[in-house]
Amino acid sequence: MSVSGKPQPVSLRLSVTDRCDLRCIYCLPPDGATLAAHDDVLRLEEIVEFVGIVQRRFGLTKVHLTGGEPLVRRGIVDLVRMLADAGAPDLAMTTNGLNLREMALPLRQAGLGRINVSLDSLEAETYRTLTRGGDLGRVLDGIAAAGLVGFEPVKFNTVVLRGINDREVVSIARFGMERGCAVRFLELMPIGVAQAGYEDRFVSSAEVRAQMASAFELRALPPVPGASSRNYRAIDADGRQGVVGFISPCTEPFCAGCRRLRLTATGRLLGCLAQAEGPQVRPLLPTRTPEDEERLVEAVEQALRLKRNARRFDGQRLMGRVGG
Ligand code: 5AD
Ligand code: SF4
Repeated sequence: MSVSGKPQPVSLRLSVTDRCDLRCIYCLPPDGATLAAHDDVLRLEEIVEFVGIVQRRFGLTKVHLTGGEPLVRRGIVDLVRMLADAGAPDLAMTTNGLNLREMALPLRQAGLGRINVSLDSLEAETYRTLTRGGDLGRVLDGIAAAGLVGFEPVKFNTVVLRGINDREVVSIARFGMERGCAVRFLELMPIGVAQAGYEDRFVSSAEVRAQMASAFELRALPPVPGASSRNYRAIDADGRQGVVGFISPCTEPFCAGCRRLRLTATGRLLGCLAQAEGPQVRPLLPTRTPEDEERLVEAVEQALRLKRNARRFDGQRLMGRVGG
C-alpha cells in the first residue's frame, strides 16, 4: 500500500462454489467433503460488488473464476456476464471441463475471455481412477467445444503424480501442441487429502522438465511478471512447436511480488493457498455507507499484509474449498 495515489493492482481468484462433480484423489476425500450451507455461499451480487470495489480502489489485473468446479455453480453464466458488464479485466476460468460442451458457447457469449481445463490424464481408465469416476470423453468434447467457440487461449493444467500420470507428460504436451494449447504441469501441493502419501506421489518440475527434454528441445521464454508459470517453447524432432509451462509452488515458489488474492465461496479473503486464515468480507457486503466500503478496503489490505507472512502450506484445508 502506498501512501500517495493508488496502490498496486491485485489479481483476484474467486471460488464461486465449494462443490464439484468430481472427487480427484488429491483434492477431495472419497465420500466428498462437508460442504458449506447454501446460505453461507456468496451471492452473485455480492461477488460482483466485491470485485467492483477492489477494481475501483486497488485496480485489478485479472479475475479468475475457480471452485470447486465453477460450472456447477447455478448462475455461473450470469456471473460471467455481470462481471464482464462491470468491466472486470482479463476474465478467466479454471474448470474440469465436464460441462464445457454445453457451456462453452454461453460462457463465451457472456464475456469469458480465457479458459483453463484440468487435464490430468489422456487415458480413460487413469482419468476415471484419478477423478473417481470422471468421463474423459466428455472432457475432450468440452475442450473441442471451447476451441470452436473461440476461447483463445485454452490452456491445460496437469498435476503430475508419481505412479499415476507421470509417464503421460510427453503425450499430454503433444496433445496440447496439436491443438495450439499451452500445457502447464503443476507440482502437487501438500494440502488437505494430498498430504497422505505426499512424498510418494510428488514429482518435481525439474523431473518433468527432464522427461520433456527427452522428446523436445526446450527454450525458456521470458518470464511474465506476476505469472506463476515458467514457460518454455517445446520443439520436437519434426519441428512441431508448442508452449509448456511449469508451476512449481514447492520447488520454485513464485511468492515474491505476488499480488493475488483469493476469495473463498463463503467470502473469506486469503492471501494464498498456503494460508488458512484471512478476513471474512461477507458481513461487509453489501456496502451501504462509505464507512462500510472503508472496512472492506481494510480487509483487502489486511489480506495483502498477511500474504507477506505466509510461509507454509496448512494441510488442514481441502483444495476444493479454496479453489485451485
Ligand atoms: N496440488 C496441486 N494442484 C491441485 N489442484 C487441486 N488440488 C491440488 C493439489 N493438492 C488443482 C487442480 C486444478 C485446480 C482446480 O487446482 O488440478 O487444476
Ligand atoms: Fe473437482 Fe478440481 Fe478438485 Fe478435481 S481438482 S475434485 S475437478 S475441484
